[in-house]
Amino acid sequence: MGQTAKLHYEGKEIELPLIEGSEGEKAVDCGQLRSATGLITMDPGYGNTGSCESQITFINGEEGILRYRGYPIEELAENSSFLEVSYLLVNGDLPSPEELATFTESIRTHTMVHEDFKRLFSALPKDAHPMAACAAAVGALATFYPDSLDPRDSRQVEISVHRLLAKLPTIASYAYKHSMGQPFMYPDNKLSYVGNFLQMMFATPCEKYEVDPVIQKAIDMLLILHADHEQNCSTSTVRLVGSSMVNLFGAISAGISALWGPRHGGANQEVIEMLESIAEEGLTAKQFVERAKSNDDTSRLMGFGHRVYKNYDPRARILRKSAHEVLSSLGVQSKLLEIAMELEELALEDDYFGERKLYPNVDFYSGVIYKAMGTPVNMFTVMFALGRLPGWIAQWLEMHEDKQRIGRPRQIYTGSAERHYVPLSNR
Ligand code: ACO
Repeated sequence: MGQTAKLHYEGKEIELPLIEGSEGEKAVDCGQLRSATGLITMDPGYGNTGSCESQITFINGEEGILRYRGYPIEELAENSSFLEVSYLLVNGDLPSPEELATFTESIRTHTMVHEDFKRLFSALPKDAHPMAACAAAVGALATFYPDSLDPRDSRQVEISVHRLLAKLPTIASYAYKHSMGQPFMYPDNKLSYVGNFLQMMFATPCEKYEVDPVIQKAIDMLLILHADHEQNCSTSTVRLVGSSMVNLFGAISAGISALWGPRHGGANQEVIEMLESIAEEGLTAKQFVERAKSNDDTSRLMGFGHRVYKNYDPRARILRKSAHEVLSSLGVQSKLLEIAMELEELALEDDYFGERKLYPNVDFYSGVIYKAMGTPVNMFTVMFALGRLPGWIAQWLEMHEDKQRIGRPRQIYTGSAERHYVPLSNR
């Protein structure tokens, strides 16, 4: 037996095996704890709980390191493309030129959705949030593609993976077009993945949209930065829902809903709304930082803090630089970027944030870039979902390859002891 941890309980000593990862992280394997002792572990919020072993993404939150399949995020952001990173995450290795060409061609030729599928959007109110529309539409893909739903059939899985990667930009743009009351644009498969998405978002039948290379490159990089982040809330959701053997579309739809929340992907929308309200109310950055430090949960400094990073989020570092480059290349003067930088400077010097190890996260600067590029605010979290999709898929695939059991946490019951039903007339 390798290294173990010892637990003393009711006069007995129980040895629990240790598991060690390729970067030296260690875990106590509690798999036999309940059968040996009757005990379970308790860890609400799962801050100390590993739900799986994974070969996809490595994070060292203390040192601010993020790698996909071993490759540092900085190198991928600088040199790769979103489709190449998607291939890497889903398949495990960087593709050869031929593999990338075949993969790109397959994604390129699956972008269109069934004509009847569009009617789904017309059932939604005009002010439907595009995240709700996307979650509903991705779930509904299962009704249009019953031929590729079996998670145990590798060919069906491959087809549904390609369909989803190809169609989510189309679905996302339709969610937006519906909210604007504009006609849906067909995909133009001559364009790149991002160029096509921009065209479907911003072109109309009366007005062509010329894809700006600066915007295209910046969005491609943003998607790379969001592509995976190991066992975060939405990814754990995809794994947990997927462990029931539901089809890929159902699991990803659940992941989109999880991402929507303001404590997770919804924070990028909240950051811009926070910066706008600071500008509108004429608050100083100092006043807002003081407000965020108060016990009132609603006025947190959005875009700050992270469950895992207790250091500067490496994605925020890349985006901070990119925000300046993109804005200057587009010739945009941004009051919001100025406020963001002031907030960052003040918070990084403040003991409240220092003691709690609260640093800027990926959402702090992404919204400023999206805004400068003309992306509507309610689409920010949808952009996050587009980026996170290959990560969710890779994690769903890995969970099935590992033949993980259905996810089913336990609990400690703290409710009433047994009591007996009292007829309504006697209450
Ligand atoms: N502003 C002010 N105070 C904060 C902030 C913040 N942004 N974040 C955490 N704190 C404080 C909490 O009030 C708490 O203080 P206390 O110990 O005095 O009670 C302490 O720091 C710890 O906070 P928790 O909420 O317990 O930390 P947790 O790890 O559970 O939460 C989270 C992490 C949700 C990201 C949190 O930092 C937060 O709400 N940040 C703002 C929202 C945000 O930017 N979310 C995006 C995360 S990145 C992503 O999902 C892509």
